[in-house]
Parts: sequence; structure tokens; C-alpha cells
Amino acid sequence: MPLTSKEKKLIEDNLNAEYLCIRKYDQYASLATDQQLKQMFNDLASKERQHAQTLKGILSQNGVSTNNIFETASPPKGDLSSVQKDLGSTDAQLLNDALYVEKYVSSSYNNAVLESADPNIRMQLQHIQNEEQQHAETLFNAMQSRGWYKTE
Ligand SMILES: [Fe+2]
Ligand SMILES: [Fe+2]
Repeated sequence: MPLTSKEKKLIEDNLNAEYLCIRKYDQYASLATDQQLKQMFNDLASKERQHAQTLKGILSQNGVSTNNIFETASPPKGDLSSVQKDLGSTDAQLLNDALYVEKYVSSSYNNAVLESADPNIRMQLQHIQNEEQQHAETLFNAMQSRGWYKTE
């Protein structure tokens, strides 16, 4: 069964979001001053790379071109934590930004799941959505344990 135009559009949107996440996490791993956070951002970047591969696979198996100007970009050059301050940023802000993006991406996958007409594709999207929720949880925990996320 070929992809419906709705499925195609939503998967392409999510692939764009994955490329954005990869870029952000590569940059944040370089900018963060805390070693633990650097590691966490690197781990998240590699998860997002797997998501992008899955979506690209679905599109190309269905004969959809996956040319995308956001797919390739030059990664940050080494450790840029010393310039984070010059950008007016902090580790807390990096985490907060990433958490917002994960919340957005998770709800975007929710739409893709609900509009999915193919049970096999639906399952793959559900799997990714679940991992996006885990990413949000990881970021939330990193913020809360540092006192940067107020729940009261
Ligand atoms: Fe992702
Ligand atoms: Fe994610």
C-alpha cells in the first residue's frame, strides 16, 4: 500500500524535525560546560540519527525522494564551552530549549501515528514517539536534579 499524501507529508515534517534535533544536540554537546550534559546531548544526537534513518527508510521504500537541505551540515569544531557565555547562553537554557523541542516533536509524532494508514509504519512511529517522550524525561530529570525545573 503506497503512502497516503497525508502520511508522506507528516513523515517528511518529522524528518525535518529530526534533522533539527541532530543539529541542536551536536551543537549543545559542544557548547555545554558540564561533562555529564555533553555526554547526554551526544547520546541524544545519536538517537535522533537513528530516528532520521528510520523515517528516511520509510520514505525511500515508498519511492519518495529524501533530498533535504538540512540533512548535511558541518558539525561544531570541538569543545566550544568557552564561547557559550559569549552567546549569552547557559547550560540551563540549552536544556530548556531541548525540552521544548522534544515536547513539540512528541506531539508531532502523535499526529503522524494517528494519521498512519499502514500498521507497520504506525508501529515504527509509535516506537519513535515513545523514545521522544523518554528524551523529554531525560531532559526534565537533568533540569530538576540541578534545581532548574520548578514544579511548585
Ligand atoms: Fe527523534
Ligand atoms: Fe528526541
